Amino acid sequence: MGYFIHNNMALISAIIMSCMTVAIKGESRPHTFPPFSCDSNNPSTKSFLFCSTHLPISQRVNDLVSRLTLEEKISQLVNNAAAIPRLGIPYYQWWSEALHGVAKAFGVENGVMFNGSIKAATSFPQVILTAATFDADLWYRIAQVIGREARAIYNEGEATGMTFWSPNINIFRDPRWGRGQETPGEDPLLTGKYAISFVRGIQGDSFDGGDLKDGHLQVSACCKHLTAYDLDKWKGIDRFTFDAQVTKQDLADTFQPPFKSCVEGGGASGMMCAYNLVNGVPNCADYDLLTKTVRGDWGFQGYIVSDCDSVSLIYDKQKYAKSPEDAVADVLKAGMDVNCGKYLANHTKSALDMGKVSESDIDRALHNLFTVRMRLGLFNGYPTNLPYYNNLGRKDICTPEHQELALEVARQGIVLLKNSEMLLPLSKTKTKSLAVIGPNANVTKTLLGNYAGPPCKTITPLQELKIYVSKTKFHMGCDSTNCTSVATSEAVKLAKSADIVVLVVGLGQESESEELDREILELPGKQQSLITSVAEAAKKPVVLVILCGGPVDISFAKNDPNIGAILWAGYPGEAGGKAIAEIIFGDHNPGGRLPLTWYPKDFVKIPMTDMRMRSDPSSGYPGRTYRFYQGEKVFEFGYGLSYSNYSYKFVSVSQSKFDLKKLSSTSERLENSSHISVLNIGSDSCEKAKFSSVVSVENEGKMEGKHPVLLFLKRDKGSNGSPMKQLVGFQKVSLNPKEKVSVKFEVSPCEHFSSGSEDGTLVIESGDHYLVVGDQQYRITIRV
Ligand SMILES: *[C@@H]1O[C@H](CO)[C@@H](O)[C@H](O)[C@H]1NC(C)=O
Ligand SMILES: *[C@@H]1O[C@H](CO)[C@@H](O)[C@H](O)[C@H]1NC(C)=O
Ligand SMILES: *[C@@H]1O[C@H](CO)[C@@H](O)[C@H](O)[C@H]1NC(C)=O
Ligand SMILES: *[C@@H]1O[C@H](CO)[C@@H](O)[C@H](O)[C@H]1NC(C)=O
Ligand SMILES: *[C@@H]1O[C@H](CO)[C@@H](O)[C@H](O)[C@H]1NC(C)=O
Ligand SMILES: *[C@@H]1O[C@H](CO)[C@@H](O)[C@H](O)[C@H]1NC(C)=O
Repeated sequence: MGYFIHNNMALISAIIMSCMTVAIKGESRPHTFPPFSCDSNNPSTKSFLFCSTHLPISQRVNDLVSRLTLEEKISQLVNNAAAIPRLGIPYYQWWSEALHGVAKAFGVENGVMFNGSIKAATSFPQVILTAATFDADLWYRIAQVIGREARAIYNEGEATGMTFWSPNINIFRDPRWGRGQETPGEDPLLTGKYAISFVRGIQGDSFDGGDLKDGHLQVSACCKHLTAYDLDKWKGIDRFTFDAQVTKQDLADTFQPPFKSCVEGGGASGMMCAYNLVNGVPNCADYDLLTKTVRGDWGFQGYIVSDCDSVSLIYDKQKYAKSPEDAVADVLKAGMDVNCGKYLANHTKSALDMGKVSESDIDRALHNLFTVRMRLGLFNGYPTNLPYYNNLGRKDICTPEHQELALEVARQGIVLLKNSEMLLPLSKTKTKSLAVIGPNANVTKTLLGNYAGPPCKTITPLQELKIYVSKTKFHMGCDSTNCTSVATSEAVKLAKSADIVVLVVGLGQESESEELDREILELPGKQQSLITSVAEAAKKPVVLVILCGGPVDISFAKNDPNIGAILWAGYPGEAGGKAIAEIIFGDHNPGGRLPLTWYPKDFVKIPMTDMRMRSDPSSGYPGRTYRFYQGEKVFEFGYGLSYSNYSYKFVSVSQSKFDLKKLSSTSERLENSSHISVLNIGSDSCEKAKFSSVVSVENEGKMEGKHPVLLFLKRDKGSNGSPMKQLVGFQKVSLNPKEKVSVKFEVSPCEHFSSGSEDGTLVIESGDHYLVVGDQQYRITIRV
């Protein structure tokens, strides 16, 4: 029934819209123009209070909602929000994607379909590689471009929505997660900073925030998926029914902080609740989470959408609700506003009739929904809906500058993992012939990763390497990255014939993606044997390039002297092939650093379903991520080489001793002598406790380079389950050979020295702490 109504509405709206076309003839407007409400040329809309742009949005929304019939109201609670022709309100599609470029989810109806005259948008590297740049300014610029292109597509009349369900800021908790590639990695502070930069950039805010023009949005961002969602499908267990058992401690300092930053720092206007349950409660039905925490504690003012079909799962699969109507009541009363899917369209009326929800529950949701649509300027008439965004159009999509930025991000993200005897960079003049081997060397799709839109153009590694060395020959080596069948003898023969061999291997969406977690951490199929054989046969040590999102145990390659250099290139986006070749031939000095731990293959012994971050030595549980994991690593979080060497020194630290009792606003309420809760310190004292730490960085190498400086906190002996190490800040410097600069970090003990305690509060522990940068450390003493 929902589907039927929608189609009818769409038809009616199409008719109305074409009438409007006639009504506005004579003005210069594009042939197809964007859907909008409150046309100043339409006399019937002039009387609507909700069209009065000089009134506050909340008043306009109240007016609009008060005019809707019950049936119309219900039709707005789903992602395909029906047109309301009698009020001049067009169809609106809540679902759009823009994870690393304007995209569309495969095979479904989206706000942006790319089926008109605009066929492509700039495709940036997959987020996990972008995170490796450790460059918040770059993240902001990417998001700005995505937001501009998205608004431009809407302005051209080729979209039906501007609410983008990005970024994905779940913590990359387990290396097997198929969607880990979509995230900025495993660290909560980095992920929070990414969220802030992304949201500000795409929504049209300034880098420092607080500058939205009249509160209006360029386009709307959505932080997803709240919360503790990081398992898709693993050994028969799927995200639709997985009940994540999460401690308050892990929630406090791992799973929630990115979402809190996304709201408080980024000012996100959207939030998505995840499929899974947390400690027995489906995320979308969790009042404490959605209403108390997100709206109450964090002050979220936006709309909350369910992941697609999550509401139906609450009854159908999770059996949390006893009837469809109970599921509807659970989510609306919890604070969810719109359902991706049709469930609310189908079952809200009967939930009302049965008295399980009231019309005011619906009105509450509608208020949030129409507020966002008004903040997008969709009720301001046209073409004056939002003056600062009206000029964006097709000229702003896939521009040379945007494509150059996609290239720059790939360059800066790629991580040099090994470079024995300075094999790289290769000489452009002395390398006379090249053998390029491997299943990922010439596949355009693999470069993009999931949630990619159609790119402006793509360059594969093979295509660009050929530009550097015309005598380049290619063999795939394997049938695909699955590598079930391998052509070792042909590959070996080719390897023997060339000066240098570049292998391009790794994973692809066929081995890690949505609804597909890995079960092994090694390269799939016979890739490893192919690599080893080729490396053994080659004249010189080979260059190994790995495309993947999640980490792979490549200890074999790390230890193989026949493999001279290793590059991790994530899924590097439309210009990734060029960036890889530039690094191999020294036109760019790599500076990316891993945003996640690379674990050895034995890590898979621990079940993916074990959500605990902290280790448990008594049972042999090793813990997760660099903050807690106690076992061996293939590569560390933050690891990454360069063609230069950088040295560090602490120049000054403005304060190195803290007496927390003095800071505390309520000293008698100190829990005990070993730690103090951040809440007890209070925000004024937290502000006063901030100090600065200046670090000098010198490029000791021979090449100019961009280098991210990572500042960590280490504890002498953590108690209370505090992390062994945690990121305090990061900054990118650009240095010529022998050049030295000072970088200043603002350190906030309340934010950077705290960690979760078992009751879910953030606490600072007494004792010696160390600020650490590279091999340098500086002691900070905290007494209670
Ligand atoms: C694009 O796809 C949408 C959804 O399927 C459809 O409604 C629309 O008419 C299509 N547009 C064009 C120009 O084909
Ligand atoms: C909604 O109702 C329609 C028509 O009865 C049905 O085809 C569809 O599966 C239902 N969808 C959901 C999510 O309940
Ligand atoms: C590499 O891929 C491109 C684009 O798909 C294709 O045109 C070209 O033929 C491929 N090259 C080789 C040597 O297979
Ligand atoms: C690769 O393996 C995956 C997972 O086993 C499978 O789903 C997919 O069909 C395979 N793809 C190819 C190209 O063989
Ligand atoms: C950097 O320093 C290390 C240790 O001193 C040395 O082995 C390496 O060759 C240097 N690398 C560069 C690029 O100078
Ligand atoms: C303070 O708390 C820590 C961690 O919970 C505990 O180990 C310690 O025994 C407590 N100390 C006192 C004096 O209560």
